Amino acid sequence: MLSGIGSWLPPRIVTNDELAQRHDTSDHWIRTRTGIVARHIVSPGMPTSHLAEQAGARALQSAGTRDIDAVLLATTTPDRLCPASAPKVAHALGLGGRPAFDLDAVCSGFLYALSTAASIIVSEAADRVLVIAAEAFSTLINPSDRSSAVVFGDGAGAVVLRAGTPDEPGAIGRSVLGSDGSLADLITVLAGGSEQPHATSPDGHDDNRYFSMRGRAVFHHAVNRMSEATRASLAHTGWAAEDVDRIVAHQANLRLLHSVAEQLNIAPERLVVHLDRVGNTAAASIPLALEHANRSGALVPGHRVVLTAFGGGATWGATTLIWPSLTCA
Ligand code: ACO
Repeated sequence: MLSGIGSWLPPRIVTNDELAQRHDTSDHWIRTRTGIVARHIVSPGMPTSHLAEQAGARALQSAGTRDIDAVLLATTTPDRLCPASAPKVAHALGLGGRPAFDLDAVCSGFLYALSTAASIIVSEAADRVLVIAAEAFSTLINPSDRSSAVVFGDGAGAVVLRAGTPDEPGAIGRSVLGSDGSLADLITVLAGGSEQPHATSPDGHDDNRYFSMRGRAVFHHAVNRMSEATRASLAHTGWAAEDVDRIVAHQANLRLLHSVAEQLNIAPERLVVHLDRVGNTAAASIPLALEHANRSGALVPGHRVVLTAFGGGATWGATTLIWPSLTCA
C-alpha cells in the first residue's frame, strides 16, 4: 500500500538556452526532439545521498510515521562504488539499524525497488518500507556529448509502502519485470567497474568513464518493451486500455511517451508529463512525476494508474494501482 510520497530537486536549474551556449544545439531542437525545457542539476560536491535523504524525509512526513522497517535506494549514481549509499541515507534519516540496500536497474530502478519492497511486505519480513529513487545523473555526462547533456537531469522521489489488503487504494498490483543483457551496450558507462577498472586509457582519454547511449535504438526498444509490459500488467489486473485514467511512463522523451500511449490505444491526455521541467532523471523519474501529479491534482484518489519504465541493462517493467489519498509533504 502506498501511504506516503515525497520528492526533492537540487535548486540549480539549467535551461535549454544555457545548454545552447555550451553545445552545438538549440532550444528549438531540444523542445521538438525531446519535449524538455529545463532540468535541475546538482552543484559540485552534492552527492546522490543528499537528494535521497531530502526526498525520503518528505515521504516520511507525508506518511505521518517514522516507523520504517527497511530502506531501499534505487540509483545508478551511488555516492561511491563501495559501499552502497542506502545505509548512509537510512542513518541520516534516523533509521540506522534497519536493513538498507541499493538496487540498480537504471531507469527501471524505481519499479524494481517498488516490486522488491512489496514482496518484502508480503513475506511479512517488514510492515513498512521506504523506497527512494535518487540520481545525480549529470555526474556521468560527458561534457562533449550534446545528445546526453540535453536529456538528463538530477533529482529524487520516494514513497512509503505499508502492509494492507490487495483491494485497498494504493495496493501495488502484480509487477511485470524483465531484462535483456544482450542489450547492455546500448546504455552504458564502460569504465569504473571490474571489467574495466581504469577510467583513463593509456593514451590519456577518459571518455569511457562517461555515460553513453545509442538513443535511436533505445527509443525503439523502450516503446516496444514498455507497451508489452503495460499490456501484461493490465491483463493481470483485469483492466482494459480504456479503464486507465493515468499512465505514468519513464520520462525519457515526450515523443516516446506519445508512441507508448499510441501503441496501447490510451488517449494522450491520460499521460502524466513531467519531463518538460526536469528532463530524464533515470530511476527518479516515475516517483518525481507521481509526486508532482499528486500535488498538482493531475492524479486524484480513485484514478486507475499504470506505471511503466525501460532502462539500461536492458531492464523494463510495469505495474498498476488505484491512486490513494496522499498528503503532500
Ligand atoms: N542538438 C542538435 N542536434 C543534435 C543533438 C542536440 N542536442 N543531439 C543529437 N543531434 C543530432 C545528431 O548529431 C544527428 O545528426 P545527423 O542526422 O546529422 O547525424 C541528429 O540530431 C539525429 O540524432 P539522433 O541521435 O538520431 O536523435 P534523436 O532524434 O534520436 O534524439 C535522443 C536523441 C533525444 C537521445 C532520443 O534518441 C531519445 O530520447 N531516445 C530514447 C532514450 C530513452 O528512451 N532512454 C530510456 C532509458 S535511459 C536510461 O536507462 C539511462
